[in-house]
Amino acid sequence: MRTWREAWGEALYGTDGFYRREEGPAGHFTTSAHGGLGAVLAEVVARLADEAGVCRVVDLACGRGELLHHLHDQRPDLELVGVEVVERPRDLPSPVEWLRSPGGPTLPDDLRDLDALVLAHEWLDVVPCTVAEVDDDGVLREVLVDGSGAERLGDEVAADDRAWADAWWPAVTPSDRVEIGLSRDLAWRDLLSRSASGMAIAVDYGHARTGRPSHGSLTAYREGQVVEAVPDGRRDLTAHVATDSLGADEVVTQRKLLHRLGLTAATPEHSRAATDPLGYVHDLGRASTIAALTDPHGLGGFHWAMSRSRTCQT
Ligand SMILES: C[S@@+](CC[C@H](N)C(=O)[O-])C[C@H]1O[C@@H](n2cnc3c(N)ncnc32)[C@H](O)[C@@H]1O
Repeated sequence: MRTWREAWGEALYGTDGFYRREEGPAGHFTTSAHGGLGAVLAEVVARLADEAGVCRVVDLACGRGELLHHLHDQRPDLELVGVEVVERPRDLPSPVEWLRSPGGPTLPDDLRDLDALVLAHEWLDVVPCTVAEVDDDGVLREVLVDGSGAERLGDEVAADDRAWADAWWPAVTPSDRVEIGLSRDLAWRDLLSRSASGMAIAVDYGHARTGRPSHGSLTAYREGQVVEAVPDGRRDLTAHVATDSLGADEVVTQRKLLHRLGLTAATPEHSRAATDPLGYVHDLGRASTIAALTDPHGLGGFHWAMSRSRTCQT
């Protein structure tokens, strides 16, 4: 048996890891980067790049470049870079740069001195973290797992993980679980340390101290279904992110951010259906896309953790 963190890393990023598969993440689940949602997301990202005063967008953990396609279509003036664990997709527009990455918490050496808006959309949730559980004596122990998903408790968690749990996710009730966010915090800090100017943004399902999931959130997806969490390389393994411990300048919900940028789901005046039917249908479609992206019980609940690079701060 191995620690969940170790097994999770191997299952997603090992030689035959899930994220190296031909079909990519979009073969198994849909995100806000895909389809019509992705077109609006691209608009938001381009707006934030403009606000940050940069003309380069790095899409870290970019899947097969879905969002980069939208950004390229809408804003060919932006320099675009995709970072992923696989080879450059053949259909990616040629001006888009591509960097290969080891995966998980590890970033490519070439990703540094960034003067860019760096977007990590659903990256941190797939950075494996220590999974721990409180035993009958109140001790926080690592959860071990085998290739079939069977679990048992191992040693007490290491001192640095323990310190993180004490500070951010204290748990004392037997069988409560803690997904220790230290590996995500360190990955985020590593990303920030590579930014010379601009902004870094991590977007994920997240939680804060007041609303931790006491039985954890580790789950798996395969072919559009939620399935049992088994580290077998044939399914995505993901756990929500403790976004408050990242130390970002600001964490806002996607709903709040989009509203702040003036994107609301207001439907167009019905009278336009007669005078401008095509425009009416277009605006109706856009309103329903924005409604999906801002749904407080769905995608609107995503956390946007944002930090301006230190050299940009006043
Ligand atoms: C949940 S998918 C999200 C894909 C895309 N951003 C989207 O929202 O549709 C997570 C992606 O992160 C990628 N990933 C994980 N760690 C990475 C790393 N260190 N560098 C680059 N990509 C990484 C995985 O290969 C996978 O494609």
